[in-house]
Amino acid sequence: MRILVTGGAGYIGSVIVKKLIENKHEVVVLDDLSKGHKAAVHPNATFVESGLKNLKDLDETFKQFNFNAVIHMAAYSLVGESVEKPGKYFRNNVIYGKSLLDAMLKNGCKKIVFSSSAAVFGEPKSVPIKENDPTIPTNPYGESKLMFENIMKWYSKAYGLEYTSLRYFNAAGCDEEYGEHHDPETHLIPIIIQVALGQRDYISIFGNDYPTDDGTCIRDYVHVSDLADAHILALRKNGIYNLGSNEGYSVKDIIEAAREITGHKIPAKESHRRPGDPAVLVADSSKIKKELGWNPQHDLKSIIKSAWLWHQKNPEGYKE
Ligand code: UFG
Repeated sequence: MRILVTGGAGYIGSVIVKKLIENKHEVVVLDDLSKGHKAAVHPNATFVESGLKNLKDLDETFKQFNFNAVIHMAAYSLVGESVEKPGKYFRNNVIYGKSLLDAMLKNGCKKIVFSSSAAVFGEPKSVPIKENDPTIPTNPYGESKLMFENIMKWYSKAYGLEYTSLRYFNAAGCDEEYGEHHDPETHLIPIIIQVALGQRDYISIFGNDYPTDDGTCIRDYVHVSDLADAHILALRKNGIYNLGSNEGYSVKDIIEAAREITGHKIPAKESHRRPGDPAVLVADSSKIKKELGWNPQHDLKSIIKSAWLWHQKNPEGYKE
């Protein structure tokens, strides 16, 4: 298939592009490099340096390549920032996303695989979370992802759009070649690794009074390569799927596991809660396993090990 990957120069997008190319698909990456890195674009992908707000480039790209499907990754994704700057999130993730859908339909492309998020659920009533559990986001980031899911739903009824929404829980770990480089870094595992590499003095634990066994937030960490596999499968079937490991680990569990793997003390300091953080997010991913045969390969140790390896090889991240 000929596939457009928006945000294909980003952390998850770069690994998806690699898998698509390994699976003999033809790939065009559209990325404005506001968050992504040129060095993260696979050499066999065609790279268009532009963003979804540039309607002319978008339309021309569709006209030039006649895509069979789109994998839509381009978005802002920081929970904390979205609470402070909601307008930025609704503009980029919803309004520009709708431009993408309009460009697709105008040019006869009907299939989209969308990077959605566990953040659409908000504070879950019960865990593990199933796809049809209530969606009440606790931050504008999650709200923007849910709004886009709803737009796809109505576009599917009105215009025959075919969509698969993949609700990622916490993407983590690295491919051997393609890793995680955010500027500034805000995610737990890469920050812990920066401490192990001596680039930071300590890790701050955001909140110690959550209703969990050790008082810190619990998340479901899923390896970026396993996430990427799910996108290849999702090209075949429409639907909404959770992507997680069914296992929850607290912030303190992650720090402890990283201490074992890196052999570094990783000093930690307890700090105040980060606005917008739900206490517990753990996926029930049985639907995608059953319907699409998704078969994740990595556990928490392998996630942290893979990140530790990539960051040791690339201590400054990508050079461009
Ligand atoms: N945390 C710390 N200290 C840090 C950084 C994070 O204690 O320095 C905590 C957070 O408060 C949270 C947990 O570690 O409890 C994980 O935080 P991340 O920032 O790594 O990830 P999030 O859970 O906030 O968000 C990630 C993605 C979102 C997605 C969400 C879904 O960034 O896009 O997972 O679970 F919505």
